[in-house]
Amino acid sequence: MGSADNPAKMNLSSRVPSGGNVVPQRLTAPIRGRAAELQVIGSLVAAVAEGRGGVLVIEGPAGIGKTRLRTELMALATECGVRTLFGEAFEYQRTVPFFSLFMATLQADPPVADAESLRRLGASTDPTYWVVHDLADAIGSAAAHTPLAIVLEDIHWADNGTLLALRSLATTAPEVAVLWVVTARTGAGAPAVHETLATLERTNATFVRVGAMTPDSVAEMVADAVRAHVDESLLSLTVKAHGNPFLVSELLGGLTEEGRIEVNAGRAVAIGTDLPRRLSAGMQQRLDLLAEDVAEVVRVASVLPDRFSAALLAAMLERSPTSLLSAVAEAVRVGLLVEDGAKLRFGHDLLREATRLSMPQSLRRAMERQSASIMLHLGAAPVEVATQLARSAEPGDREAIRAVRQAAQSISRSDASAAADLSKRALDLLPAHDPEYGRLVAETVDLLNRATRYAESEELAVAALSAASSEGEAEIRLRLPSFTWHNTQRRIEESRQALELTDINDVARARHLALLAFNMMFDDNDGQNRHVAEKAAVAAVAVDDLEAKVIAKLTLVCFDCADGYVTRSLATLEELSGLCRTDDLAAASLLVTNYYANALALVGRIEDADEQITAGVARARREGDTMALDAWTVIQAAVDLAAGRVSSARAAAESLPPPKPTGATEIDMVRMVVLVGVAIATDDRTLLQHMVADANTAYLSGTAMVRRLAAHALTLAAWYREDLHDAVRWFGGDIDPLSTAIMPLSLNHVILAARVASAAGDAGCHARALRAAEKLQREQPANPMFTAVAIYVRGILEHDAQALMAAADLFASSARPLFYAAAAEDAGAELARIGRTEDAVAYLTEAFDTYLDHEATAHARRVGRELRQLGVERRIVSQPRAKTGWDSLTVAELKVVNLIARGATNRDVAESLHLSLHTVKTHAHNAFTKLGINSRTQLGPLMRG
Ligand SMILES: Nc1ncnc2c1ncn2[C@@H]1O[C@H](COP(=O)(O)OP(=O)(O)OP(=O)(O)O)[C@@H](O)[C@H]1O
Ligand SMILES: [Mg+2]
Repeated sequence: MGSADNPAKMNLSSRVPSGGNVVPQRLTAPIRGRAAELQVIGSLVAAVAEGRGGVLVIEGPAGIGKTRLRTELMALATECGVRTLFGEAFEYQRTVPFFSLFMATLQADPPVADAESLRRLGASTDPTYWVVHDLADAIGSAAAHTPLAIVLEDIHWADNGTLLALRSLATTAPEVAVLWVVTARTGAGAPAVHETLATLERTNATFVRVGAMTPDSVAEMVADAVRAHVDESLLSLTVKAHGNPFLVSELLGGLTEEGRIEVNAGRAVAIGTDLPRRLSAGMQQRLDLLAEDVAEVVRVASVLPDRFSAALLAAMLERSPTSLLSAVAEAVRVGLLVEDGAKLRFGHDLLREATRLSMPQSLRRAMERQSASIMLHLGAAPVEVATQLARSAEPGDREAIRAVRQAAQSISRSDASAAADLSKRALDLLPAHDPEYGRLVAETVDLLNRATRYAESEELAVAALSAASSEGEAEIRLRLPSFTWHNTQRRIEESRQALELTDINDVARARHLALLAFNMMFDDNDGQNRHVAEKAAVAAVAVDDLEAKVIAKLTLVCFDCADGYVTRSLATLEELSGLCRTDDLAAASLLVTNYYANALALVGRIEDADEQITAGVARARREGDTMALDAWTVIQAAVDLAAGRVSSARAAAESLPPPKPTGATEIDMVRMVVLVGVAIATDDRTLLQHMVADANTAYLSGTAMVRRLAAHALTLAAWYREDLHDAVRWFGGDIDPLSTAIMPLSLNHVILAARVASAAGDAGCHARALRAAEKLQREQPANPMFTAVAIYVRGILEHDAQALMAAADLFASSARPLFYAAAAEDAGAELARIGRTEDAVAYLTEAFDTYLDHEATAHARRVGRELRQLGVERRIVSQPRAKTGWDSLTVAELKVVNLIARGATNRDVAESLHLSLHTVKTHAHNAFTKLGINSRTQLGPLMRG
């Protein structure tokens, strides 16, 4: 614990010592002139003491008294029986994930949340997920026991993890007895800080904006310090502190130091009208007045991390810690340094800042650089010194480059954007002629892409390419193109250019060959580019490079799958994703897991696909990898639509950006097809119009897959506007719905093709639809989903009621309810045509109900019209499902919530409902969001209420 163990040290520091829960001490000098602020604080503390939570932001300029208000709040909370948890952000720890949040929770006594399990989860699970959900749980249960005030000081220096978590954790949900309190310096900090504060403001946090103190309050403050009446001579000097209490106390300290305050007959008079040197001349002179060794200690201290050990200080000065005792004691006596538990820190951050600025920049940098080296030797991790190094190193500094680069890699697993910044800094330090230069550019480009900072990535790559060696160029061209941003032609072009280089090594060549094959797979009709993948696979095996092997193999799998060999493809994908798990193959691993999830959904294994997606999304979130997040989100959208979760599909698709200005990518196109499907199912004409316009544009310029998906979207739109001519036009030409890369919605395309062919009587379309059906039944033993679709297609083409009924029956037990509804609808129509009215009504009724169950109201309405012609009246009574509240929960979510409310753990729920743990967590998460709560402990009151 901190200085609470040692009462003797307590007076030295007005600060609260280390993290966790603390019993703050009242300061000797009373707080002055903050009546309004204290009233707000008082009512929030009283509320939380009675079980009503809230969020308070104390914001204001440097030295204005935020910390003072915060200590007041903590003292008050303690008096009211509210337990306070305290965490603080430090300038130097900005790269350490969850630094201040964990300081407040895990370092509390007893800790809130299980530190060990959080740490163990480490790289394998998503810390943000855990922080937000499990920490929310832990905080919830701690608060159910004793009301909490969770105080995070100086969040303008907080790491991104803490900021992100804070946005979801700190809610104004009044039913939880947690008061979140953060302090922040106005305008300071990175964009993430501003976003966080904006989010808190939007969600109704209380803001206390601390301003200048009134002259009267300043006078009171002065009186407290001099313990006497204050003479006008002294007051007229304090005006120059502009109502900033830090400056007031500095001013008084300076005057005292210079012997310029005289107390006569209970009246404090100032001698002279000049500002004390401390304020006028700055830190430089102030230090000059101290003994040399004391000044040296203070100067050196200012380049160390915010809290530092005496050992580090001694190492910097090349002295033994004991020999520093008297100098440190003197620095403490004059108020520059204070003891903070086992460590030292500056009495006020502004003093540290002033000390740093009092030194010539070159010296400061050199000292900061040295301190980083010493810390590394004392065993600090690269992330702990990265901020110092990034700031202090000179170009060519190998140790710094290595450490900054390592830090970038290690935080890339939690914050891609911050990692990209560090990597850029390492690059600034590395001479352009260095053999490692190209590789480091490639690393940086990769991180920038993962943070979806595509423009910066492109700019950096383009600038570096002109100067890079062939090896460097090949590396850069390997990492630059991203399938979430660059279109297929561009990606192909990058590999082509790299492969034209004469002197690149075999591994780089094999990787480019594999990537080229992968990208050409999207521009393929009927397997004409398969040979490129075969050649790439051979090259990859020859150099025995895992990344090249995995990508080449993945490409071949995509060809196999489009040929109908889905069972075999699934097995290979499972094997490949196993390989990627054990190796550090970020790029390849994302592709493989994407396609695995995709293939699982293709055969109707929706739950398994969901599980992959949840894990992928969790990982992407954890890593701040917004690129991977986009890739997963589009798969989520497609799988949602396939599973008949129409509104989720819409939400996922709409969360993605619109098509790229540089030309639509495959991702843009899948989003488009999903949204067309959603628009038609829900009769949203505006959405449909937008998507049709986008699809028309994409059709003109895209590669084969882009054009195919555009054609799918446009055929679909034409079909439902009953423009058969247009539908045939879009399905005409060379469109083969089962070309690479196929996905769950490719089966919709096949079915649509059959409907168009059958309705239009177009022989070409008919042949192509039939060929697709053949492909679906090519593999032996046949996959049940493929078989059902093939039977359905033949039923449509041959107007065969029997086949359509058989297809409907096969789909009835599948995870593709909208296929079931469609087949039942077609069977019903066919049965009606041949006069089997009773059977027709039965099938149409099933179709009607199923559409309605899955929010496909427009489809239900159409079937309703068919039923009416058969004399059966069905109305669409159900309102569209609410987006929030109990009515918005799906059946699965309701089941999960009910079990949780009865005290079941996620694992219990998974077992009793035969779901995966991931799926349970997803359901619980979605349900909690809809119910507007963020922990299971909030569920109890909600269910009772
Ligand atoms: N209302 C007040 N009455 C008396 N003293 C005050 C008051 N507000 C602040 N002080 C004193 O002024 C000094 C600066 O205040 P404080 O450290 O709270 O500022 P801050 O806003 O937290 O600054 P920073 O932005 O550097 O964190 C402290 O010594 C504090 O005790
Ligand atoms: Mg402060």
